[in-house]
Amino acid sequence: MSGEAVGKVRPRRREVRRQGLAIGLLVLLGVVSSCSQSPEVAEFAAAYPRDASPNGTVREFAVVAAPAAISLFDGRPFDVWAYNGQVPGPTLRVRLGETVRVRFTNNLPQPSTIHWHGVRVPNAMDGVPGVTQPPVQPGETFVYEFTPKDAGTFWFHPHLRSSEQVERGLFGALIVEDKVPPPYSRDELWVLDDWLLTREGALFAEFNTRHDLAHDGRWGNLLTVNGRLTPRLTVRPGQRIRLRLLNVANGRVFVPDFSGLSAGVVAVDGLYTARPFELARLEMASGNRLDLDITIPPDAAGKRFGVTDRFTRKVIPLAEIVVEGDRVETPQFASPAQAHIPSWQRPESATPVRAEFKLNAQLGGPFGVQWTINGAAMDHGTHALPEHLEHFPTGEFSRLRLVNESYRLHPMHIHGLFFKVLSRNGVPVQEPHFRDTVLVHPKETVDIGTVPEDRGRWMMHCHILEHAESGMMTVVSVD
Ligand code: C2O
Ligand code: CU
Repeated sequence: MSGEAVGKVRPRRREVRRQGLAIGLLVLLGVVSSCSQSPEVAEFAAAYPRDASPNGTVREFAVVAAPAAISLFDGRPFDVWAYNGQVPGPTLRVRLGETVRVRFTNNLPQPSTIHWHGVRVPNAMDGVPGVTQPPVQPGETFVYEFTPKDAGTFWFHPHLRSSEQVERGLFGALIVEDKVPPPYSRDELWVLDDWLLTREGALFAEFNTRHDLAHDGRWGNLLTVNGRLTPRLTVRPGQRIRLRLLNVANGRVFVPDFSGLSAGVVAVDGLYTARPFELARLEMASGNRLDLDITIPPDAAGKRFGVTDRFTRKVIPLAEIVVEGDRVETPQFASPAQAHIPSWQRPESATPVRAEFKLNAQLGGPFGVQWTINGAAMDHGTHALPEHLEHFPTGEFSRLRLVNESYRLHPMHIHGLFFKVLSRNGVPVQEPHFRDTVLVHPKETVDIGTVPEDRGRWMMHCHILEHAESGMMTVVSVD
């Protein structure tokens, strides 16, 4: 090559040029890769951790499901199915970073499983019979183990014949505390439920009736909080309370009202909100959770605040907050509700629908009426995968569309991920929080957005348990 003859300068220049090219190429690649990351994914980046960070501590619990006669409502013994002989079941409380290990024993007269509602667990720990594990037969034991990725209010319940098993009393809360929990004066849990009783006061023991199926599932005639009729929470003036609400009813929607006591919503479905917002006609469908930040006014001694449900026109008493005793110093700390919530405001033209789910009903199936997703009813005997399995890529934004073609309510729940409501009937909605369950009203279309992180086959179903039992359930694949 002539270059060699010209001396040392040229090769050096060439080297410099080569380096320059290499750097240029790297820069270019960088640009390309950040271009392939959509603005939605970029916005999502700091929303919640991709992985759990186990700290080595394992918290072991034994949970036994069995028939029991326990004192409920007004104190009379009542026949239920219970976890560890109590309704609600035990509250499993752990700290973020701890590993949960639950030895579940089924002493029911039928198979069961435990599903960890809202918890981002490894797929094999999700408790879905026929999809993630075989049913746990009477007398058998199954060990669930996972490290929660998020601090918040979660719950657990059977995922087999759940319209009967949950209704009979099988549910409990899983509370994952922050590494350093905010210093509230009190941390309380209210499990909201309703029961359908006969005139004689026993549990109405027919499940999945035609009536329940033709309507919004089984709605009870007795509303309870923590299994009690209008229980009283006694507090002191100045206390700052974290009140965790959980709706375990098969079908009922609650709209909790605190009669003038100011309640800030700090978490929805387990995850913190972007900022606290005043609780006002927020619908809690089956499965939903709300964490409230309530400061009892310092001058409220002697006052009572009735807490009611206002979903229907009939105002139903739920509980009472009674202020007694001497005033205490109100703990001053910043609200824990400071989550990074993506706004995801680009229109549909920029973020087209990846999958659409039509919600409807048809005649047929074991109960005479079947609820369907895209025309198909899940067969709980075979758990056959849907003919067309929807795939959602991890780490990518997906817009999903829920189209309610029926005149009934459908609180749609997806396992293994959180999502955000983007629009209702085409009108953009800006909720400052994620969810794992969204109530889709009659004839309504709801678009949701999600960036799934956890691979696996996840259930998507209506959380009205009679609708789910009669078929309104499908599987989606995150891969
Ligand atoms: Cu709480 Cu698959 O549900
Ligand atoms: Cu439904």
